[in-house]
Amino acid sequence: MVFKITRFNIEDIDKIYEIEKESFPKTAYSKETLIRYALGLPDTFIVIGDNKETAGYLIFDKTGHIHSAAIKPKYRKMGLGTRLFMYAKKSSRQRLWLEVRSKNAAALRFYKKMDMKVIKKIPNYYGNDDALVMILYKEPKS
Ligand SMILES: CC(C)(COP(=O)(O)OP(=O)(O)OC[C@H]1O[C@@H](n2cnc3c(N)ncnc32)[C@H](O)[C@@H]1OP(=O)(O)O)[C@@H](O)C(=O)NCCC(=O)NCCS
Repeated sequence: MVFKITRFNIEDIDKIYEIEKESFPKTAYSKETLIRYALGLPDTFIVIGDNKETAGYLIFDKTGHIHSAAIKPKYRKMGLGTRLFMYAKKSSRQRLWLEVRSKNAAALRFYKKMDMKVIKKIPNYYGNDDALVMILYKEPKS
């Protein structure tokens, strides 16, 4: 399987929405929200897949804020999340940052593996859960 990273294309919407519902059963973005992201961040809503299937996506912006990321369950733990993260890291100027649910142990492990550090906790940010703000500063090019 050769997975490639591309920019979101409207033809991806049903597959991305499916991944969204599988990944965030109670809090999935609607299709409208995903399309709004695609319109607002056309260069930084990125998708990974092969010629048959869409495996995941990551949305970030020019400040380095990662808004969302998910990999289809059957393609997890294969390094695809890492590839999307590295693409975002390469494209960002100084830093990457995000909010993550304190109870999302898998995502926390993933972002820690990406060298992100927790810098703050926002109590009850998600209503029933705290947000942890994580950040990664890029090293300046020498
Ligand atoms: C978080 C997520 C995007 C990671 O994607 P992935 O493609 O599975 O991640 P990778 O295969 O690149 O994993 C890289 C490293 O992250 C860590 N990691 C990833 N998934 C993990 C898990 N379920 N438990 C513990 N550590 C994990 C591991 O250290 C892994 O390295 P290893 O395989 O050498 O042990 C994916 O689990 C996912 O879609 N989760 C549901 C949606 C979500 O929570 N998104 C983040 C919200 S902010």
